[in-house]
Amino acid sequence: MVRQQPLAAIDLGSSRITTVVGEANEHGALQILGVGIAPSAGVDRGQINHVADATRAITASVEQAERSSGRQILSASVAVTGPHLESRNNRGVVAIPDLDTQIADDDMQRVIDAGRAVTLDSSRTILHAIPRFYVVDGQDRVADPRGMHGQRLDVEMHLVTASRGAVQNAVQCVTSAGVDVELVAAQPVVGSQYVLRREEAVEGAAVVDLGAGTTDISAYLEGAIAFTASLPLGGAFVTRDLMVGLRAPAEVAETAKLNYGHALPELVADETIILEGFTDQRDREISRRLIAEIVHARVAEISAMVLKTLKRAKLDNRLNGGIVLSGGGSELPGIVELFEQLSQLPTRAAQPGELYGLADQVANSAAVSTLGLLRWAATAGDIPSPATRAQTRRDAPGLGGLMRGALNFGRVFLPS
Ligand SMILES: Nc1ncnc2c1ncn2[C@@H]1O[C@H](COP(=O)(O)OP(=O)(O)OP(=O)(O)O)[C@@H](O)[C@H]1O
Ligand SMILES: [Mg+2]
Repeated sequence: MVRQQPLAAIDLGSSRITTVVGEANEHGALQILGVGIAPSAGVDRGQINHVADATRAITASVEQAERSSGRQILSASVAVTGPHLESRNNRGVVAIPDLDTQIADDDMQRVIDAGRAVTLDSSRTILHAIPRFYVVDGQDRVADPRGMHGQRLDVEMHLVTASRGAVQNAVQCVTSAGVDVELVAAQPVVGSQYVLRREEAVEGAAVVDLGAGTTDISAYLEGAIAFTASLPLGGAFVTRDLMVGLRAPAEVAETAKLNYGHALPELVADETIILEGFTDQRDREISRRLIAEIVHARVAEISAMVLKTLKRAKLDNRLNGGIVLSGGGSELPGIVELFEQLSQLPTRAAQPGELYGLADQVANSAAVSTLGLLRWAATAGDIPSPATRAQTRRDAPGLGGLMRGALNFGRVFLPS
């Protein structure tokens, strides 16, 4: 089911807060009505570390999206990430009392409840409970058992849990910015569902979102999400290395990375470039190769950590569909080739899906994760309250009502 009404999605990134207002059609194509991108503050490695700063940054992003869309944003879905995210796959089983009746919605609901019933520390909360596949009477895996006959129904669920405090902080900041939180999603889940093609997910594939403070990983097997994690590493570390290596202020190092950075130094011409903006006002001649070597050292380390994480999850031999890179870091020249070399897997950069309206503002690999959130919010099912409804605001919501999409079993994992 698609909610065909304007919705808002807010991605709390470590380098920028992106707010997108838009609608999805029944094929998942997005109509972008408004975009706000503000520099982030008070967010470190995906997590809020300064409430007032983060609230101000969110307010700036939301106000920009309001101006751009000509609508007031009263509520939004929010994506969080960070190394506090954890995932596991859990089985649930129920008996079907009557062999003569077909498996129906209430059986599905019972088995999903069984599959998400795990013992959690009080500091953790479930962000996503996604059915991976069902099994009826121990037979083959099925995507949707409704209408079938059997005595026993199994489900395997992919559960993504988060630090309750980290989620509460994110909700608090968005609420303080004057926006009700409709749903909280894990960035790696909603981003990967958006960028992965169905055939890649079926063959087995990983999506790696190279952000500023985090590198998000999610992997799919046989069409269903199987693994979610977020590493506290990202493009900000590359910039920091350049600050040290070039003895340059942050802005100069960032410019050097964006304009001259390359993941494979051997492909860079051995020439010098002029960098300006140093504190002593004197421009510097710098070797392009040197910049690329500094960048390479860090991105190779990040790539190796990603591959190690996939190996530890026993996924490295099962990803014939390859790797898809998203996030701002995926724009670095040579990064796709570097991942391909290190992983020996086909690698590509994420592409935004079908977009209309203000498409040019979000048609880049850094914004695809926010688009994923928007589409997820639009298809997550029975969630009340449109982003732009005219209504008085509720008090800061607890976490209870924010994961309703997690119960929506109609939406089974396959990216369309
Ligand atoms: N062309 C480019 N070359 C290299 N790095 C780039 C390029 N464009 C953007 N980046 C880097 O990408 C990062 C920002 O990416 P993105 O917007 O996906 O991060 P974020 O969502 O704010 O952070 P996170 O996901 O870690 O919370 C920054 O470190 C930026 O320097
Ligand atoms: Mg991000």
